[in-house]
Formats: sequence, structure tokens, C-alpha cells
Amino acid sequence: MRLFEPLKIGTLEVKNRIIRSATYEKMADEDGFVTDQLIDFYKQLALGGAGLIITGNALVDISGYSAPKQICIHNDFYIDGLKRLVDKVRSFGAKIAIQLVHGGRQCFPFLLAGKEAIAPSSVYDPSINVTPRAMTDDEIWQIIYAFSNSARRAMIAGFDAIQLHGAHGYLISSFLSPHTNQRDDYWGGDEERRFHFVEELYKATRSEVGDGFPIFIKLNGDDFLPKGLKIDESLRIGKRLQYLGINAIEVSGGMYESKGSVIRAKIDSEGKEAYFKEYSIRFKSELSIPIILVGGIKSKNVAEKMITDGYADAVSMSRALIREPNLPNKFMEGKEKADCISCNGCTRFLKLDYVRCVEKELASNDFSNISPSSNP
Ligand SMILES: Cc1cc2nc3c(=O)[nH]c(=O)nc-3n(C[C@H](O)[C@H](O)[C@H](O)COP(=O)(O)O)c2cc1C
Repeated sequence: MRLFEPLKIGTLEVKNRIIRSATYEKMADEDGFVTDQLIDFYKQLALGGAGLIITGNALVDISGYSAPKQICIHNDFYIDGLKRLVDKVRSFGAKIAIQLVHGGRQCFPFLLAGKEAIAPSSVYDPSINVTPRAMTDDEIWQIIYAFSNSARRAMIAGFDAIQLHGAHGYLISSFLSPHTNQRDDYWGGDEERRFHFVEELYKATRSEVGDGFPIFIKLNGDDFLPKGLKIDESLRIGKRLQYLGINAIEVSGGMYESKGSVIRAKIDSEGKEAYFKEYSIRFKSELSIPIILVGGIKSKNVAEKMITDGYADAVSMSRALIREPNLPNKFMEGKEKADCISCNGCTRFLKLDYVRCVEKELASNDFSNISPSSNP
């Protein structure tokens, strides 16, 4: 099957085309340091057969803290713990990339210690009831520096690649989106200027890590908002990034405000799987770098078809691997469908003490791991 054939992404050799899409785990400690629990969890993923594991979103600057106990990389103090994580994954022959994020306007106020969320423009987010403050020019350059400096730390820690989180309404995505970027300066005002943030950020990051180090980006094909990013502009962003030297694009869609669009529930037939494929096929047909498709993929058949029919070069999965970290191996051994039922219990991360498949625990009547705080 093509699904199990190797793929080259820049200088990186990936043993198959099943990628663990970035998935926040809530398993770092309160200060964002790697814990033994996180390492044990990655051991399961590393043994599970995915060609590449992308970590949960790692924080590049404290002003973008968007999820409790997310992995942090905004200070050199974090390098040792991250290195332990990488070494463990490597010891099982797996490859690992780290996703870099700044939460932008999608930061819950209780995580920001009294500070305002920052974003390109002061556009209210009804989904979390936040009106961010528009960033100053100096702040923008500081955050660009925070990304490139975090990439340097990732390289020192030994990661095989980094992925910039340019999707789902977080800071990079909010600079790219006409809905959330309403500036009229170097950073916004038209399509060219909306691109400047990711362009400067990419260039700063590339000069920090050098030409050979793989840099990917996760992008929205569509924000699913009336004034949001649409596929034609998204494609032009992808082409410009390809021209600049980005090594792969993971195609996703949506943001907090376009509720339910990123992580769709009730994927109960093959027809509902791979729900961003109409966007990835556009990227595939107009770009030459590897395109990764995420969103609702649960069947081996569908995953294989995405690759053989030219929708993507690789598929990535999040929820299915929360439930079965060894799903890639099971696929290889003949299993056809993931056990995940897309109930989205795993997304209620504020209520869970760590991210996991709640439905699996309920199905097996094993309540021992559910803390009182995780009950709705
Ligand atoms: C619990 C949970 C945490 C997630 N955390 C991240 C994240 O840190 N970064 C990211 O880009 N996407 C994140 N996602 C989105 C997934 O990577 C993926 O885009 C989405 O879930 C659709 O894929 P799936 O149908 O395979 O789950 C998360 C999804 C879930 C369910």
C-alpha cells in the first residue's frame, strides 16, 4: 500500500505516510516542563508505528499561553526536558517534530495572569468572550524573535523538524485571516501585507536553523467565517511559502469562532472522513512540496485513497491516535477502522486532568482514571 511507503520531507526520511497530527496533551507540568507522564505517552506513540509524531502545540512566548499544562519552549530552561522526550522517541526509531504556537486572541483570560490577549487587531472573539489588544510593531518583532529562538531550542533538543502552527485561529493564522487582521500598516491591509508576519517569521526561523532543517506549517484552507481566509488566498500563501523554502504544508481549517469546524464530531461513515480533502487537493495540484491532509481520517481505506488519488502525500490523525496510539501498526497488521467514534470527549480539555479517550474508559467501565474535575 502507498500508505506504508516512505516519504521524503525536505531532508527528513519518514518511514510511512501516517503522521500523528499535533495534539495538545495537558501532560506538561504547571510551568510547561516535560513530565514522565508525557514521556510515557510519547513512548506509546513511538512504538505505535506513525512515520512522524508532531507534538502538541508548544508555547513560544508567555503572552500566547492558550492551554493549561501545554509544553513550553520559550526559555532555554526547557531544552533539557525536551531533549529527554526526543531521546525516548528516538530510542524506538521514531521521528518527532515540535509544533510551535502563540495563542494570539484565543487565550483564555485566566491563563494570562491579568494581561490582555494580543492579536493583529482588536477583533472580539465570541467563542471565549475575549477582545484582544492590537499588537504594537515592537511586539510583533518580539514574537517573531520568540518563534525563531524557540526553533533554535527545538534544534538543540534534537527534534527532526518544526511545525509552525499557522492554522485554527492562533496568532499566525490570525495575521493571515482578513477577518482577524484589520490593520493598515506593514502587517495588514491587503493580502500582501497580511502575509508579512508569516514571511518575516519564516525567514527569521530559517536563518536560525539553517537550510537543511525541515520547517513545516499547518494552514487553514478555509476559516469558515464570512470574512475569513478562503482557499484561493490560502493557496497563494502556500505558494509563497513554498517559494521561500517551507518543506511541507498540513492542510486544515477553522478557528474557535467557527465552532466545530476544526474537529468535526460524528464522523460515522467513510464519506464524512477526510473532511478537508477539497482543500488539500488544490494544494496538491498547485504546489510541489509534500501536502499532509488532516481531519476525520479513521479508515485505512480512506487514508490509502487520499494518497493514491492524489489528495495528499501523507495523512495525519489526532483523535484516532488518542484512542489507539498504535493504530498505524494495527493498520499494517490488517485492521481496517479506528475505534475512535469522534464523540469529542477528548476535546473537553479544561475539564479533563489530561487529554485522553473518555469514551474508551466509559466503554470499558474503567472509571479509575477519571478525576472528579473531569466530570461534566
Ligand atoms: C485533544 C485535541 C488536541 C489538539 N491539539 C492540537 C494542537 O496542539 N495543535 C494543532 O494544530 N491541532 C490540535 N488539534 C487538532 C488536530 O491536530 C486535528 O487537526 C483535528 O483534531 C482533526 O483531526 P482528527 O479528525 O484526526 O482528530 C487537537 C485536537 C484534539 C482532539
